[in-house]
Amino acid sequence: MRFKRLTIAVLVGIGLLAAFGTVMADNLTGDMEIFSWWAGDEGPALEALIDIYNAQHPGVNLINATVTGGSGVNAKAVLKTRMLGGNPPDSFQVHAGQELIGTWVKADRMEDLTSLFQQEGWMDVFPAGLVKLLSTDAGIWSVPVNIHRSNVMWYIPTNLEKWGVEAPKTWADFLAIAPQLKAKGVLPLALATNWTANHLWESVAISVLGPEKWQELWDGTLSFTSLEGVAVWDMFGRILQYTNDDAASLSWQQATDMVVNGNAAFNVMGDWAAGYLTTTLGLTPGVDYTWSASPGTDGVFVMLSDSFGLPTGAPNWENAIAWLQLLGSKAGSDAFNPLKGSISARTDSDLSLYNAYSQSAAADWQNDVVAGSLAHGVVANEGFMNDFATVMEMFLTSKDPQQAANACEAIARQNAIGE
Ligand code: GAL
Repeated sequence: MRFKRLTIAVLVGIGLLAAFGTVMADNLTGDMEIFSWWAGDEGPALEALIDIYNAQHPGVNLINATVTGGSGVNAKAVLKTRMLGGNPPDSFQVHAGQELIGTWVKADRMEDLTSLFQQEGWMDVFPAGLVKLLSTDAGIWSVPVNIHRSNVMWYIPTNLEKWGVEAPKTWADFLAIAPQLKAKGVLPLALATNWTANHLWESVAISVLGPEKWQELWDGTLSFTSLEGVAVWDMFGRILQYTNDDAASLSWQQATDMVVNGNAAFNVMGDWAAGYLTTTLGLTPGVDYTWSASPGTDGVFVMLSDSFGLPTGAPNWENAIAWLQLLGSKAGSDAFNPLKGSISARTDSDLSLYNAYSQSAAADWQNDVVAGSLAHGVVANEGFMNDFATVMEMFLTSKDPQQAANACEAIARQNAIGE
């Protein structure tokens, strides 16, 4: 019923919008708190959405609550405290997949958005595979605002030319050119704080295992202690030899800066790096910087999707629904994503609004084999991810592949992976 009331208001708004070519304001009032980790130079895309929301709903006081820290490492901890303390925001950022389903939906903390999806026609514009990541048999639990790609290697073409190397197609190629780069005083691969090691690990794992066996790890049909499982850690350890010693103290943006400044040759990072390079640093994709699939993953699109959900007990329900309607809309999505480095989750987005990087990502999203990200919530629940961060800490010190594989198998069982 409540959805219906809002629909009529929105339809009237859209009709008038078409008639007058301006944004029509409605009568919503009160607060609206959105919670995310898009702070500082991660913020411009979110701010573009907020500008539209404010224009549509001038009576609403939108509170943009952010907790800084890449991949939500700090925000997720704060969110947990708030949710457990009965103080949820009106809407919060959460990755599609197990971070949503295996954590908040499992704990019965989210409202079912199926009627909203039906009402907005979203079942026809979001890919079925993505809707599946947001769903259980009992409902659909969040609204996707984008598709990000995790397995991207970034570099500066003029620097590679100067150093006489080409972007490696495999990790074996990388290990072959890394000593040459080192001899020239160039760091082969820039790394940042712990979660970026998890991020790199997933790209390495998919290159060693291939996308099918990667999925088997999460279905519980391939053991972390299998020969292939141990081989992933072995390869990862060899690559780590060519990363910076001060990684733990750097943000992902600082690791990207090392590539831009010519101190490092490559960086494996999700395509929010394209947002940073272009929206924040003003660089032109394909000219000032370029990219390829991270080594050994050409033809695979390792995806993740940022979404926003409606927690049960959200204080400002109608304002939150209006926020979700904006996120899922074509106009909202096409305002947000060109600044973010991601592509729209909708199949009808206007690609002419996107730059060369995003257009190439959109083509790969259509043509590649899709795999789910571990570091960004698709394939494993938060319990596993938190434990995996500890395994990673251990490996960064011990560099013992068998020990890390054994530990992964143990935490997979503890967190019911594949069950
Ligand atoms: C990811 C998130 C991206 C970006 C990135 C770096 O988890 O999905 O949108 O914010 O972290 O913080």
